[in-house]
Amino acid sequence: MKLILFILLIISIKSIIGQDLYVNFVPFLTEKCNEQPFGIGFSILSGICINNLGSYLQNDEVTPSSWYFKITEYEQTTIITGYNYPEIDCSGFPEVSRFVYGVECVNSPVIVPINATFSGGYKYSSYYTHVTLSKVPMFSDDSVVRGVYSNDESSTDGSVDSCTFDNFIYGTVITKNFQISYQFPFDYSETYSCSSNGTSLLKTCVGNEKCYQKNISMQCNSDESDGHTQIFCS
Ligand SMILES: *[C@@H]1O[C@H](CO)[C@@H](O)[C@H](O)[C@H]1NC(C)=O
Ligand SMILES: *[C@@H]1O[C@H](CO)[C@@H](O)[C@H](O)[C@H]1NC(C)=O
Ligand SMILES: *[C@@H]1O[C@H](CO)[C@@H](O)[C@H](O)[C@H]1NC(C)=O
Repeated sequence: MKLILFILLIISIKSIIGQDLYVNFVPFLTEKCNEQPFGIGFSILSGICINNLGSYLQNDEVTPSSWYFKITEYEQTTIITGYNYPEIDCSGFPEVSRFVYGVECVNSPVIVPINATFSGGYKYSSYYTHVTLSKVPMFSDDSVVRGVYSNDESSTDGSVDSCTFDNFIYGTVITKNFQISYQFPFDYSETYSCSSNGTSLLKTCVGNEKCYQKNISMQCNSDESDGHTQIFCS
């Protein structure tokens, strides 16, 4: 059922160019991109300047960079161009990455330069990504999603319930049981998972021993400086 919905959403890209489109980066461990997604993915609204994309994964270490994704049509080919600017407001001279829509599997672009190793000792460059476009944000199943939503002007009281697909800006999508190991500033690791009842869990281990797991599910919350956020299991 999900697959059918997915196909319906992505057909006829030509007819939806000009609308709000999400660029989805779905991570895989092999160059076929045909097994279960595994790793860190993103679903990002095109056509607007996105900042803070990685702060969540870097323990809020400030990296003043920003992304802008643009979708264009060139000789029957849909091109997704990502501009990575050095400044937070999408200014300065960007690094440019291009993806041809429909190409099955590419080496993972470094959307967020995380200084860590991943499950099995892999680095970012060992991963593959399937890049897709959709009208609504897409997340791999059984993943912990941190969604960032624009502040809804119609609800100035910051009330809950303003985290919907209509104001979704971007999401970081971490697949179940994926581990991120940091050596810096000290040796620790984080493993994300979803319980069978849909609670988002994060297990943190210091060194290899002291581990604790906590519930990181978060309902729509407007306290964050970059808009409303929400953490949930897909
Ligand atoms: C990245 O981590 C290594 C240790 O694995 C550390 O030596 C280095 O300083 C870190 N680099 C940055 C930019 O934080
Ligand atoms: C969800 O499952 C966990 C165990 O995996 C349990 O501790 C918790 O009470 C359950 N929560 C709800 C809301 O059912
Ligand atoms: C996890 O936290 C969320 C948000 O605080 C809460 O709604 C939910 O009931 C919690 N789940 C469990 C299993 O404690």
